[in-house]
Amino acid sequence: MSKGISLKQIVQENFLNWKYAIDNLGHPVEYTLKIEEADYRLDFTEGDLRELRRCNFIEELVLNSLKSIFGVEDVNQIEAGEFGREIPYGITPKIDVYLGVSNGDYLVMVSDNGPGIPPENQEKIWSPKFSTLGTRGNGLPLLREKLDRLENYQVRIELESVVEKGTTFKMYFSSRQPAP
Ligand SMILES: Nc1ncnc2c1ncn2[C@@H]1O[C@H](COP(=O)(O)OP(=O)(O)OP(=O)(O)O)[C@@H](O)[C@H]1O
Ligand SMILES: [Mg+2]
Repeated sequence: MSKGISLKQIVQENFLNWKYAIDNLGHPVEYTLKIEEADYRLDFTEGDLRELRRCNFIEELVLNSLKSIFGVEDVNQIEAGEFGREIPYGITPKIDVYLGVSNGDYLVMVSDNGPGIPPENQEKIWSPKFSTLGTRGNGLPLLREKLDRLENYQVRIELESVVEKGTTFKMYFSSRQPAP
């Protein structure tokens, strides 16, 4: 066990990566990171920690939001202004990341005000090679696979999405070991 290392630290480390990506887009995108006051000292095994750090689980969702908001295959196209989607008038792209606790589970949430995912695609996004962005379409299936391999945590992912309103991914981390 890795004493003292918490999900909070991993989220904060991860934040630095996607903050950097957003700050260098050359296009205004609002973002927030909110971390609720809570006890985040639950232990992860060394393996879980390595996996969570390596899989950049928030970054994958944030990049999906950015690609979807601007309708691009690659976030590098955003700086060049090559948008495949018109951002509705008066809307500033926005991505919110949240860490908190819900019914004893850790909750990590990533929300955007992008194009949304139509109901008929909401199951398909978890299948390999499904993409509406012209990319590989493996990000979410790989993320799911990696989260399923965590030893001490079980991760449930809920999707809430409304077309032309936005998308929220909620990841609930519950301890596999019942508290003593
Ligand atoms: N925030 C979002 N808003 C709208 N659509 C989304 C969002 N996140 C995911 N999607 C949809 O889910 C699809 C699958 O996402 P996934 O991350 O698996 O693949 P990708 O991003 O297209 O490609 P890759 O991750 O391999 O580069 C996307 O192509 C898009 O249609
Ligand atoms: Mg992706």
